[in-house]
Amino acid sequence: MQSVTVNSKVSNSKQTSKNHPSSDKRFKVLDITMKRNQYHQDALIEILHKAQEVFGYLEEDVLLYIAQGLKLPPSRVYGVATFYHLFSLKPSGEHTCVVCLGTACYVKGAAELLATLEKDIKLYPKETTPDGKVSLMTARCIGACGIAPAAVFDGEVCGKQTSSEVLEKVNGWLQE
Ligand code: FES
Repeated sequence: MQSVTVNSKVSNSKQTSKNHPSSDKRFKVLDITMKRNQYHQDALIEILHKAQEVFGYLEEDVLLYIAQGLKLPPSRVYGVATFYHLFSLKPSGEHTCVVCLGTACYVKGAAELLATLEKDIKLYPKETTPDGKVSLMTARCIGACGIAPAAVFDGEVCGKQTSSEVLEKVNGWLQE
């Protein structure tokens, strides 16, 4: 298993993924999307869509990152993200598992990872275990295709995942 630790906090310095404190490639995907839209504030919804695709949900630091990139007040970005039901904010579980369902990960068996969680733990995408410990989300290409299939456990991007590894991680959280 290869892993990259992600610090998802956003610093106050200029917000580009180059100096984002994490090495999370998903911020680079956001940069490219904002650049392609020439940082137009009107592109906010499209950029939120992309962010949800790559992160699986919209956490506060992602919303702040977008607000700074588009030079919009965070309240505006937060307002739009909460207004539309198609956007999910941070899931309610204590821990979060995001399984990438982008093409490369799908081809390498991402659907089996989800099937295992469904079969063994009865945990389905966009749901949280009844004890509130684990939320499961899906994303579309988190920028780690080279280590597909990839999953993100509490912000830690892990590659070449097998069903048993994912199950072990989630079961470990459930037993805490
Ligand atoms: S398809 Fe999963 S990381 Fe690209």
